[in-house]
Amino acid sequence: MLLLPRPLFLFLITITIQTVTPILLSPVSKDPSTQLYTISMYLQTPLQPTTLHLDLGSSLTWLLCNNNSSSNHPIPCNSSLCTTFNSGGTCSNNTCSLFPENPITRNTLLSTANLDTLALPTSNGSTQGSLVQITDFIFSCSTAQLLQGLAQNATGLAALGRNNLSLPAQISNSLSTTRCFALCLPASTQSNGAAFFASTGPYIFNSKIDLSKSLIYTPLIVNPVADTVISYNGQPSDEYFVNVTSIRINGKDVPINASILAIHQDGSGGTKISTSEPYTVMESSLYKRFVELFVNESLAFNLTATEAVEPFGVCYREGDLTTTRVGPAVPTVDLVMHSDDVFWRIFGGNSMVRIEKEGVGMGLWCLGFVDGGAHRRTSVVIGGHQLEDNLVQFDLDSNRFGFTSSLLLQATTCSNLNNP
Ligand SMILES: *[C@@H]1O[C@H](CO)[C@@H](O)[C@H](O)[C@H]1NC(C)=O
Ligand SMILES: *[C@@H]1O[C@H](CO)[C@@H](O)[C@H](O)[C@H]1NC(C)=O
Ligand SMILES: *[C@@H]1O[C@H](CO)[C@@H](O)[C@H](O)[C@H]1NC(C)=O
Ligand SMILES: *[C@@H]1O[C@H](CO)[C@@H](O)[C@H](O)[C@H]1NC(C)=O
Ligand SMILES: *[C@@H]1O[C@H](CO)[C@@H](O)[C@H](O)[C@H]1NC(C)=O
Ligand SMILES: *[C@@H]1O[C@H](CO)[C@@H](O)[C@H](O)[C@H]1NC(C)=O
Ligand SMILES: *[C@@H]1O[C@H](CO)[C@@H](O)[C@H](O)[C@H]1NC(C)=O
Ligand SMILES: *[C@@H]1O[C@H](CO)[C@@H](O)[C@H](O)[C@H]1NC(C)=O
Ligand SMILES: *[C@@H]1O[C@H](CO)[C@@H](O)[C@H](O)[C@H]1NC(C)=O
Ligand SMILES: *[C@@H]1O[C@H](CO)[C@@H](O)[C@H](O)[C@H]1NC(C)=O
Ligand SMILES: *[C@@H]1O[C@H](CO)[C@@H](O)[C@H](O)[C@H]1NC(C)=O
Repeated sequence: MLLLPRPLFLFLITITIQTVTPILLSPVSKDPSTQLYTISMYLQTPLQPTTLHLDLGSSLTWLLCNNNSSSNHPIPCNSSLCTTFNSGGTCSNNTCSLFPENPITRNTLLSTANLDTLALPTSNGSTQGSLVQITDFIFSCSTAQLLQGLAQNATGLAALGRNNLSLPAQISNSLSTTRCFALCLPASTQSNGAAFFASTGPYIFNSKIDLSKSLIYTPLIVNPVADTVISYNGQPSDEYFVNVTSIRINGKDVPINASILAIHQDGSGGTKISTSEPYTVMESSLYKRFVELFVNESLAFNLTATEAVEPFGVCYREGDLTTTRVGPAVPTVDLVMHSDDVFWRIFGGNSMVRIEKEGVGMGLWCLGFVDGGAHRRTSVVIGGHQLEDNLVQFDLDSNRFGFTSSLLLQATTCSNLNNP
């Protein structure tokens, strides 16, 4: 009897696992007109390059359907697939139907549920490889009207939410891989960032840095009440919430009642991560104290605020700030998570926004956080500007959120992926 030497046997297993679990990778761009993000992939037969608005918290992917795809099939009402949809799917005109939503305008409509082919390029972490196809990707068809307010040139919406029908969930289910994806949003409208699906890493940047090694983790928490336009009794939110317990500026706590950061029984409060807001939005009472402490702490940097420009609450003259490799030198903002020593540090590059003050020809740096008003459902919505050039990971198998802080600290950016 022939026995394989044990080390060789293990080696073969390792190779097999690597070939069946590639990272799938999609380019992500920033749209200059909305400051929101798009993701690119291939859809239909023959495969067409397609640009969709990227939305982290949405549940259902939808797109403008045309009759050009030979693989597009509406899902029949009486199919077992239709009955697995939330509420059992809705039967309309003999076709299984769903409610595609626009997270910006909060419009929705009843539209058909379809299946078609989706394809994404693979990567071994550093070099782009072949396309992987998912032949029965579930989405909904929509009309051009529902695109209003989304990133320009998007022909639909890619939903990355926390449910079984989202784009990352369908990819992971279809390939039987780990339910984990990561985003690296570009700060520039000129170069792409990336989304990585079906893998916990490595994520190789600048040919050598594996950003999965820099991740700090905090639990993902569930908001028990969905905030979609169409929702069902007892349905939890598909958005990504984290347990921010305090906010520090230059090491000092913003003086707030901690209950505002907790998620209440009705789903209000808490902190979520969102790609629907270009800047982090805070509930009014929190925002006022946040700005006040930032202004106080900026005195230590010899900074005196100038007249603020909407929608921002505090701005400084560009010439008053010195720049560092992580952006303008201002007090750091820390989002402190479940424990005092777990915090997401935000440096000037992610806290400040550079704008030209109209008519004066003067550059300003404004604190890139905005006042969401007194009756915000969610107390803190961490928005795009604060996420850019940070790698963030959503690991649903381990139920945790990973973040790197500014990649500028490691002399890289979200656009320095080796892949084209
Ligand atoms: C949108 O499409 C038009 C025409 O193809 C192109 O000129 C423009 O650059 C695109 N805009 C963005 C933001 O990609
Ligand atoms: C369908 O395909 C044809 C040829 O490839 C193209 O000219 C046309 O614009 C497509 N229609 C739509 C609605 O995408
Ligand atoms: C599909 O589109 C072509 C032109 O693009 C049109 O002539 C044809 O009627 C359409 N078919 C259906 C079933 O809508
Ligand atoms: C669903 O309905 C179609 C047409 O009415 C029928 O041909 C098909 O057999 C039905 N399928 C199931 C699973 O009942
Ligand atoms: C219902 O289906 C018919 C035939 O496929 C189509 O002509 C009609 O536009 C559909 N109605 C709606 C509301 O989708
Ligand atoms: C990825 O594949 C390329 C080309 O096959 C190879 O040169 C590179 O070393 C691989 N990288 C890793 C991390 O496996
Ligand atoms: C999620 O979907 C997959 C198939 O796409 C199915 O096998 C699995 O049971 C579903 N899980 C849940 C929790 O609905
Ligand atoms: C914090 O807010 C909660 C709910 O609004 C209130 O019941 C509590 O008394 C507040 N605590 C303090 C210390 O102000
Ligand atoms: C800011 O400084 C002023 C004056 O020293 C102080 O009264 C106020 O409480 C400080 N605000 C915060 C939020 O620390
Ligand atoms: C602020 O200004 C004072 C007096 O001009 C100077 O001594 C100090 O070094 C400055 N601090 C910083 C952080 O620039
Ligand atoms: C958030 O963290 C605090 C402090 O560790 C803890 O008391 C609280 O239960 C956590 N909340 C959730 C929803 O996990």
